Amino acid sequence: MSERPQDAVALVTGGSRGIGAAIAGALAADGWPVALTYRSGAQEAAAVVAAIEAAGGRAVALQSDVTADGAAAAVLETAREQLGGPVLTLVNNAGVREDDLAISLDDERWQRVIDTNLTAVFRMMREALGPMLRARHGRIVNIASVVGLRANAGQANYAAAKGGLVAATKTIAVEVARRGVTVNAVAPGFIATDMTADLPKEFLDGIPARRAGMPEEVAAAVRFLASDDAGYVTGSTLYVDGGLAA
Ligand SMILES: NC(=O)c1ccc[n+]([C@@H]2O[C@H](COP(=O)([O-])OP(=O)(O)OC[C@H]3O[C@@H](n4cnc5c(N)ncnc54)[C@H](OP(=O)(O)O)[C@@H]3O)[C@@H](O)[C@H]2O)c1
Repeated sequence: MSERPQDAVALVTGGSRGIGAAIAGALAADGWPVALTYRSGAQEAAAVVAAIEAAGGRAVALQSDVTADGAAAAVLETAREQLGGPVLTLVNNAGVREDDLAISLDDERWQRVIDTNLTAVFRMMREALGPMLRARHGRIVNIASVVGLRANAGQANYAAAKGGLVAATKTIAVEVARRGVTVNAVAPGFIATDMTADLPKEFLDGIPARRAGMPEEVAAAVRFLASDDAGYVTGSTLYVDGGLAA
């Protein structure tokens, strides 16, 4: 069983609010120095850093649009410089949704969702893998969605990105498994964040648990997959969805 090297750091994309902020807090509570990225929410990101520091952890907030050219290599290097060690846990959480029925979903909204939720995640994984393979220890956790498995009308772009993300997760997992690097997905159902704030509450009636999940409940799954205890879990998708995918 490979143990986390002492200087290892974690990076969470989209850690300024919602699920990503909860993940950053959970990893910091597990002793990871955490770099959290954001696109535009500098104040929110600073508040997440302050909360982590107040609880005795270490964190930095880094502005980085995951879709920008060269963003992956640059942000991984900045995290290493600022926190003093290689990024050996990478949580690809940043994501967007731009819903419409397929008949009126234009190319721009299709492409923006694929670029952010799938292509950018692949680039982050590709850039992060080198140091992980050299360290013979690494944890990649990709935040997918129950919608990658189960249809949700109006989300063809989002479903394609998240379904593709689960497929890429499995393939990359088998490429690197022998080197102590695990690659898994966590697939949330309906979680109470800004992303779901505009969805009708009737949606909850279709969830076996009859309630929305909390960001901390997703973060707990990520925390486990990032831990030394999860060294033999790879290529899997862990649903945190109140039974929606069952
Ligand atoms: N909420 C749910 O029910 C649910 C269900 C299934 C899956 N998910 C997935 O869980 C993840 C987090 O969702 P959430 O509900 O916490 O979303 P959220 O509250 O909307 O937060 C999204 C986060 O991603 C960041 N972000 C968005 N685009 C970015 C970009 N281009 N570059 C860098 N950061 C970017 C945002 O930063 P800024 O604020 O700076 O823009 C923010 O920190 C997403 O991948 C989402 O698809 C959510």
